[in-house]
Amino acid sequence: QIVPVILCGGSGTRLWPRSRASKPKPFLPLIGEGSLFEATLDRCSGGDFSSATIVTGAAHLGHVRAQGEGRNLSIIVEPAARNTAPAIALAAARLPHDQIMLICPSDHHIADTKAFAAAATTAAKLAREGWLVAFGIEATRAETGFGYIRRGEPLAGDARRIAQFVEKPDRARAEKYLADGGYFWNGGIFCFTAGRYLKELSRTRPAMAQAVQIAVAHGHVDEECFHPDGNAFAAIVGDSIDYAVMEEAEDAAVVPVSMGWSDIGNWPSLQEARGGGLDGNVTRGPAELVNCRDVMTDSDGPRVSVVGMEDVIVVVDGDEVLVTSHAGAQKVGQLAGAKNQ
Ligand code: GDD
Ligand code: MG
Repeated sequence: QIVPVILCGGSGTRLWPRSRASKPKPFLPLIGEGSLFEATLDRCSGGDFSSATIVTGAAHLGHVRAQGEGRNLSIIVEPAARNTAPAIALAAARLPHDQIMLICPSDHHIADTKAFAAAATTAAKLAREGWLVAFGIEATRAETGFGYIRRGEPLAGDARRIAQFVEKPDRARAEKYLADGGYFWNGGIFCFTAGRYLKELSRTRPAMAQAVQIAVAHGHVDEECFHPDGNAFAAIVGDSIDYAVMEEAEDAAVVPVSMGWSDIGNWPSLQEARGGGLDGNVTRGPAELVNCRDVMTDSDGPRVSVVGMEDVIVVVDGDEVLVTSHAGAQKVGQLAGAKNQ
């Protein structure tokens, strides 16, 4: 059995104005009917999966409860956001040592859920043998917002030892890795036993590992949520699993998986995941497009009419309107509106 550990933390300012502090990316219905969080819960249920642990902040708790209703969830409320390494450690410290955990971000789209489940089963086998396992995605562009995994010696099936893990390389290195061809993107999905993760964290970040143990030992349960001790947890210097553990890990493995993965990091990647017609146009909500190519519209109310345009994204959300090119969309997070939402 695998315990899914679902991380709900970030806010996703690059999907402004749809994504806001009050309603961040994981809880929005961006693709299909449900939210990305609901889709994550669905894909991590049945089969080899037992009930999920959610690690989230107090600000997101209302969304987690509302969208997780009717499911048997174990919820951990972080007293402060300290990034993914301690968030995962909280979940690990609450589970038996030999329990296999599958760490899942709550803000990704995965088209092929069967391929996801098969990779989880492969990863769980390796985790049982003591490996720290990452999901490897085929790298198709020199993206600097991802981790890169250099493949090492073959293990069982098409799994490989991780020769090197590089979190968010600069552009020059990302381009080199892509040209080299021996690298995967890190999908942000990890699998290991609770004990193995805590042991590695104790080696790479002993102070963080110890603070988490203390926060859990002094935590309390309130309204069916576990609250770690705030003083111990807030004292942690935040860091992600990628930097704190994976870059320095011993005995780490990668399971390559082709599952139509997208991290929906910005409007163009959402357009791609939604999929358009031959003209590349994608609309959601009321819209009329005439003589347009590669235009995306997304409106929660007013009709958006676009004539004779190419390479344009228009988003309407309540009292905010965003108009950008695909290249410009990378910088949406820098807008005053997105920063002061
Ligand atoms: N509970 C909790 N607490 N969750 C958090 C926190 C936190 O403090 N910080 C981030 N998260 C959640 C986010 O909501 C997201 O679901 C996941 O953890 C990953 O965090 P991101 O902030 O989105 O990481 P990233 O996109 O910069 O990089 C990671 O994901 C990439 C793939 O999308 C890394 O793992 C990269 O190596 C990877 O390529
Ligand atoms: Mg992300």
